[in-house]
Amino acid sequence: MIYRVMQAADLPLVMEIEKQAYEYPWSVGNFRDCLGAGYRCRIFEIDGVIQGYSLVLIGAREAHILNICIRATLRGKGYGRLLLQEQLDALAGCEVDMVLLEVRPSNRSAIALYESLGFNELGRRKGYYPAADGREDALIMARQLLGADWPPAM
Ligand SMILES: CC(C)(COP(=O)(O)OP(=O)(O)OC[C@H]1O[C@@H](n2cnc3c(N)ncnc32)[C@H](O)[C@@H]1OP(=O)(O)O)[C@@H](O)C(=O)NCCC(=O)NCCS
Repeated sequence: MIYRVMQAADLPLVMEIEKQAYEYPWSVGNFRDCLGAGYRCRIFEIDGVIQGYSLVLIGAREAHILNICIRATLRGKGYGRLLLQEQLDALAGCEVDMVLLEVRPSNRSAIALYESLGFNELGRRKGYYPAADGREDALIMARQLLGADWPPAM
């Protein structure tokens, strides 16, 4: 089981997992943009096979979890938690005080994962996601990083 940097050559297999995971998946262009922008994009592999990925934008004292996904057949085995923890551990070494993410209120398993790792609801973005019956709000969830100097010194 390893984590490694995502590369453009991974995108065909990443897209297979992405399309199975989401009703409204990212396009390959979304992944390319993240790679091109230098975001922290990680592949999770078991026995040389891609089983998940996570993408995080690190900005001015804030990080944003943009996508985290485990292959559908491998869910519920603790890998999603490991994948998120890998990103949080890496962020602890950066000058980041707060980690943010958006999630559909209907995505109960993802919300349970985030809450179990210390994320709390910060607010909502109205009509953020496409949905079958129009739009769905996004929950904004946030977690302060342990050890971070919060509030940041002015
Ligand atoms: C969200 C996701 C990454 C979680 O990965 P996973 O490997 O299935 O999760 P884990 O097995 O590590 O479980 C971690 C925690 O998540 C929660 N969880 C996972 N599956 C759950 C389920 N079916 N129902 C309720 N809670 C669940 C639990 O709190 C669990 O902790 P526990 O096992 O100690 O109870 C995975 O479901 C996924 O890829 N979903 C599709 C993509 C997606 O929705 N990503 C999030 C976008 S915001």
